[in-house]
Amino acid sequence: MSWERSLVGLADGLEVDLPGRWGAVHCLQRVDSTNRRLLESSTLVPDRYEVCVAREQTAGHGRRGRAWLSSPDASLTFSVARALSPDEAVDPALSLAVGVGVARGLERCGFSGFGFKWPNDLVTEDGAKLAGVLVEARAVREDRLPALVVGVGLNRVGAHTLGVDRRVADLSQLPGPAEAALSDLLRAVLVEVVRAWDDFARSGLALVANDHARLDHLRGRRITVLDTGEEGIAAGIDHGNGALLLQRPDGLKRLYSGEISVRVLGDD
Ligand code: BTN
Repeated sequence: MSWERSLVGLADGLEVDLPGRWGAVHCLQRVDSTNRRLLESSTLVPDRYEVCVAREQTAGHGRRGRAWLSSPDASLTFSVARALSPDEAVDPALSLAVGVGVARGLERCGFSGFGFKWPNDLVTEDGAKLAGVLVEARAVREDRLPALVVGVGLNRVGAHTLGVDRRVADLSQLPGPAEAALSDLLRAVLVEVVRAWDDFARSGLALVANDHARLDHLRGRRITVLDTGEEGIAAGIDHGNGALLLQRPDGLKRLYSGEISVRVLGDD
């Protein structure tokens, strides 16, 4: 079945699962970046989620200015966006809620054997990267409300061919269905992302805290903070503000997400 045909009905399915929450659903063969496409959208409103899914991105990007490399059909690349209300602040802890949303969507489809790595990754049990989340907020024009965009890149198959400079994994390596239909996968993940986002807007991380604790890849592991080289034992998340707790000989330190990344010692 062609890519476009496999996604016919996605918008209707989303509406069935979560009525009244969706704006336009764009399914594109090729785009520079699904995040950029939605940042520039003229149809965003604050109370509905617009979606862009692409079979191929020519300039996909991730955190810390990195390129997000993927190849057609081998990855799931999509973004979800809504307009920010005037004076609404962007909370970087949103990436934690969205990451749990992606994980719940995958679990709904029958996948297991992965965890959440603060602040924006899904990784396999041995730490290989399966998915990344990128939250961006910008006003592209003065006459539009700024957009809040959440982009997700999820490896489906053949991640080892991407030539990325760290260990990566894909869904085909996880316990789960041998072939999950693209539309089922997208529908489940999009619905759970939007549920988690709505919950986050109402009550912060409270409603993802249990799942986050269950999926926490870092907890109890010795980690190092990129850029500063600080080391310590990851001691969970402060679900009040999304900070990663780092146990160091001189006490407990809080790391706030933004652009901070951490590595598990021995994982890469
Ligand atoms: C990261 O791991 O640093 C986050 C990666 C996010 C990549 C996704 S792919 C869909 C969306 N469009 C982009 O340009 N980036 C995000």
